[in-house]
Parts: sequence; C-alpha cells; structure tokens
Amino acid sequence: MAMPESAAVRGPARPPQFNVVMSEPDPKTGFRAFELGQFHFLRDDYFVHLSWPTPQGRLEHRMSADAFLRSLMRDVAWGFFYGWVNFDPMFGSRNLYGRVQFFAGRYHEAYHKAGLSYVEEFDSPFAMATCKAILRDWCSAGFDPFAAPEETGSTWAGPKNGDNIEAIERTRVATKRMPGMSGDSPLRDDLPVNRAFADVPQDDPVIEVEPGFEGKLHAINLFKYLSRSDVTWNPSVTSVCRESLFCPTTEEYILPIKHGNDRVEWFVQLTDEIEWEVEDKETGKPRARLLMRPGDVASMPADIRHQGFATKRSMLLVWENARMDLPKLYETGQLKPYPVEF
Ligand code: PHB
Ligand code: FE
Repeated sequence: MAMPESAAVRGPARPPQFNVVMSEPDPKTGFRAFELGQFHFLRDDYFVHLSWPTPQGRLEHRMSADAFLRSLMRDVAWGFFYGWVNFDPMFGSRNLYGRVQFFAGRYHEAYHKAGLSYVEEFDSPFAMATCKAILRDWCSAGFDPFAAPEETGSTWAGPKNGDNIEAIERTRVATKRMPGMSGDSPLRDDLPVNRAFADVPQDDPVIEVEPGFEGKLHAINLFKYLSRSDVTWNPSVTSVCRESLFCPTTEEYILPIKHGNDRVEWFVQLTDEIEWEVEDKETGKPRARLLMRPGDVASMPADIRHQGFATKRSMLLVWENARMDLPKLYETGQLKPYPVEF
C-alpha cells in the first residue's frame, strides 16, 4: 500500500559545502555528537540515540551502536548503494544519485500514518562527509564494522577507546573487467584463507591464449578469491559486461541493513546457506522468507526490502544491473517489479 508522499515532513535543502556539525567529545564517553540537517546523533557505551523534528516535538529512537555502525559502514563504502538502505525499521537513507534522502519513520507504517515521519534531502558529498566523520569518531580500536562478530568481538561497546581508521576506509572493490587483469583490481592472494573456507581448493585456472589474444582472455578461481575475502556482507564487483555486474560476497551473521531495492536483482547461492527475510518496501509488512542452499537461484523484486542471515560464512553471487534509468522505469510502472511472469 503506497502512502502519500506529502505526509512526510521535508527539511530544507542544504548548500553543498556545509561543514560537518559536531560537538566537543563528551567528557564521560569520549564520543562526539553530530547533526545532519535536523537529525541529531549521539552515542553512549551501547546505543546510538537519533532524533528528528515532528509536529509534536522531537522524537528519539535508539539503536544498538553495533548495528548502527555496521549499517553506516555499508552506506559509506557503497556510496549510499542502490535505492534504500534501512538501518532498521525506522531510520535509513535513499539514494537519489547525486542527492540523498535520510528518513526516520517514513517506511514504518505506524509512525508515518501518525504524521511522525521525517525526510530531509542533502547533496551526497555533504551527507557523506558527516557519515564518515561519525564512523571515524564512533569506531574504537579493534572494531571492524565489516567483520563477523567472532572476528571483531565486542570492541564496538564501551566508552571511546582509540580508533580504527584503516578498517573504515575500505570501499567496495570496483573492477573494470575482472580482478587480476592488467590495470584492474588486484586478486588479493596475499590475504589469508578465512577460517570458514579452509577446505576451498586454491588452484588457479590454466589460461592458454591463441596468439593475438594476449591480455584479452582471463579466468580466476572465484572460490579461491572469495575464500580470502576479509569482509562480510560487502558485494565486490568481479566481472563487468556493459551494465551487468557480478558482485559476489561472503556472508556471516546478519546483513546489517534492510536493503530496499530500486531494481530487480538476482542471487545465486554458491556455498552454504543464507536465510532471507523479505518485506514490503513501503510498509515493512512480511512478504516471504526463504532459505537458499548451494545452487539455489532467486530473484529479488524491485518493490521489497530484504535482510539476510547466515550462521556459517557462505558465498553468495549478487547479480546487479547498473542501468541508471531502471529506478524510473520501475517507479512509473513501465517495468513490473518482478522479472518473470509464470
Ligand atoms: C543486497 O541488498 O542485495 C545485498 C547487499 C549486501 C549483501 C548481499 C545482498 O552482502
Ligand atoms: Fe538488495
């Protein structure tokens, strides 16, 4: 069910070069407080408290700092991603590609219907600067928001204790054609094999090229490549054919965000298992649950939000279409939200 857009409160647009607004470090916790337009962000030992204006005064919402920072890390590393990045049922961002909306309650049916939702739009570079500043200040030493809990422990909790700048400056691997080709992204053979993938064969394919085709034919052992991934829930581009992107990823614990698709995407489960919870993109009402086993293929429609769960680290191939006109085609109904009519 679509809800009227006019019911969301819209903040003013901000000029592009607007300084990050932050407080001095809190004497008790050591963390700074931040503002992004009318949104206020504060963290303590365990929680992030965010608030926004409503006709009935400011509303405050609380998230675990762990979940908040893992979500914020994805927004930063993915440049606000495709469509909606819901940090939880209440708060998140919507990519307008050049501009970005942050929202609270907008896609929570009860809050939105009660007139308590809030949306504010920013130039992406300005919002990104604030997001990066929050991550830098709120991730203590040892906390890697891309790592599985067994790997990074409870280093996210407690008062400020140093930082982990190196970990939070990683971005999505951007490949031009395939990793390992000359001038392209590296194979990362130097990374150790992850504990969950100790049994993955590490042999490389033999490439025999006809004279004249040198540098044009390429192959990699994708399982070897993924077995050495040092991040979770971070699809990296590993083959590019025009707008068609293969984005495999290794998944352990919980996809921190609920992604609201603005296009259809395909999942191919390469190893182990992932359980997906699929909800209506607007209201959050449950639409489907699916358990994907090795070899299973699923298409995720353009009108849903979804979140994945994996007990054992698994390999997933996300197949994306990067055409920039797709969101419009789905929004205007020129394309159905699903890829196949049975
Ligand atoms: C997705 O939203 O489609 C997605 C994002 C991150 C992943 C896997 C899937 O690791
Ligand atoms: Fe998605």
